[in-house]
Amino acid sequence: MRKKLVAGNWKMYKSAGEARDMVAALLPLLSGDADVVLCPPYLALPATVEACAGTKVGVAGQDAFWLDEGAYTSQVSAAMLKAAGATHCVLGHSETRGRFGSADLPASQVAAFAETDETVNLKARACLRHGLVPIVCVGETEAEREEGRTDAVVQGQVARALQDIEPTDVARMVLAYEPVWAIGTGKTCGPDEANRVCGVVRKAVARAAGDAAPGACRVLYGGSVKPDNAGALFSQTEIDGGLVGGASLDAQTFARIIAAA
Ligand code: PGA
Repeated sequence: MRKKLVAGNWKMYKSAGEARDMVAALLPLLSGDADVVLCPPYLALPATVEACAGTKVGVAGQDAFWLDEGAYTSQVSAAMLKAAGATHCVLGHSETRGRFGSADLPASQVAAFAETDETVNLKARACLRHGLVPIVCVGETEAEREEGRTDAVVQGQVARALQDIEPTDVARMVLAYEPVWAIGTGKTCGPDEANRVCGVVRKAVARAAGDAAPGACRVLYGGSVKPDNAGALFSQTEIDGGLVGGASLDAQTFARIIAAA
């Protein structure tokens, strides 16, 4: 039985001080034995690491560059995240791929995000090299779902993200199925459909990495997870927890979601 994991993706919210306050409020509310990971923005990461020291709560970067150092203005490497005390790193989030569930940006601005399956793969390998657990996000847009391409899109993203990664490393990774149309929109994928697509993700992991990995590799669901739908989602057989955005910003709300796992 895989242990549940609930990760809170704070996106571009919380200063260092706000992160410290959030952790202080959250820690006394934690119950159950699910693993918990917080994903603060880079500037709040050291404060979050410090506030979580000595607890079971892990800390993730929201992205990582694949080379350790160099003339790459604005980038933060997996090596730097590890040195700062991070344990995990979110990769390939639809927002870093430039795809948004609610905020429609003009194409010229979406291009600024420009993450691809190839860079997700390079980043995952860099994270593994430095002992960070990659949390790789995959998911279809509303248009892709309407065209009946959900499974093919997700299978392709998993296969390309895991390319040339050793099965023993794949077993340490976390995948997150996040339908783009459900992120930040309040539209949740129903538990049955979320479970079905998480199963598709797990089978794609098996195809990419052989039979050892899919049993160990955790597959999360993300997209408008709230306290009132978390229980139904997390009780599904293929869903090993959640990647939570908006509802992870408030300690009480996030603690209720963690309790549901
Ligand atoms: P949401 O975001 O919970 O606000 O929909 C989820 C995510 O982006 O990981």
